Amino acid sequence: MKHYRKLIENNAEWARDMVAQDPDFFTKREQVQTPHHLIIGCSDSRVPLELMTGAMPGEMFVHRNIGNQVWETDMNVLSVVQFAVDVLDVEHVIICGHSNCGALKSAFADSAHGVLDHWLSDIRSTMRWNQHELDGCTNGETRLHRLSQLNVLQQVRILSRTPIILDAWKRGRRPMLHGWVYDIGSGLIEQVVQAVDSTEKAMELLPKT
Ligand code: CO
Repeated sequence: MKHYRKLIENNAEWARDMVAQDPDFFTKREQVQTPHHLIIGCSDSRVPLELMTGAMPGEMFVHRNIGNQVWETDMNVLSVVQFAVDVLDVEHVIICGHSNCGALKSAFADSAHGVLDHWLSDIRSTMRWNQHELDGCTNGETRLHRLSQLNVLQQVRILSRTPIILDAWKRGRRPMLHGWVYDIGSGLIEQVVQAVDSTEKAMELLPKT
């Protein structure tokens, strides 16, 4: 129970510290949230989405799953995207992958993980579509890094084709779509895709043939 108890103790200390700095910190956020960002990240415990970007409570709407996937059939992620775009009117939607991602490693390993293999199938498709380039990488580390970029790129492409985003773009120029790869070893974000805010820009993300 030691590790669990620590969470509750940390929470009490954090809440006390925040109120000490700003007595209204929690009360002013109680009724409303006005986040500017939706971030879709991997569930990996080493990727602290809010900490690494300095986002405060109320500033970032978050969805996480294994391998930061956006499936066109996943009601979970689509509900989050729709709420963020249509109700919260976020300015930016960010897909955030990361270095040393276990999902991508598993996809390479091609070993059996039960239901997880179904979840990894889109990553495996991305691998097949880019097999020539990935095979040309000089070592396993470079290959994994390239796949993390390609996976993020693919998820931004899928997102850009959803009716939620297409309808939002018809109404105006929000949201902008971005793709990141967070480096666990340095704590730094690599911007793979920036400011896609139209179908024309989304089309440019298509692989060059
Ligand atoms: Co991961």
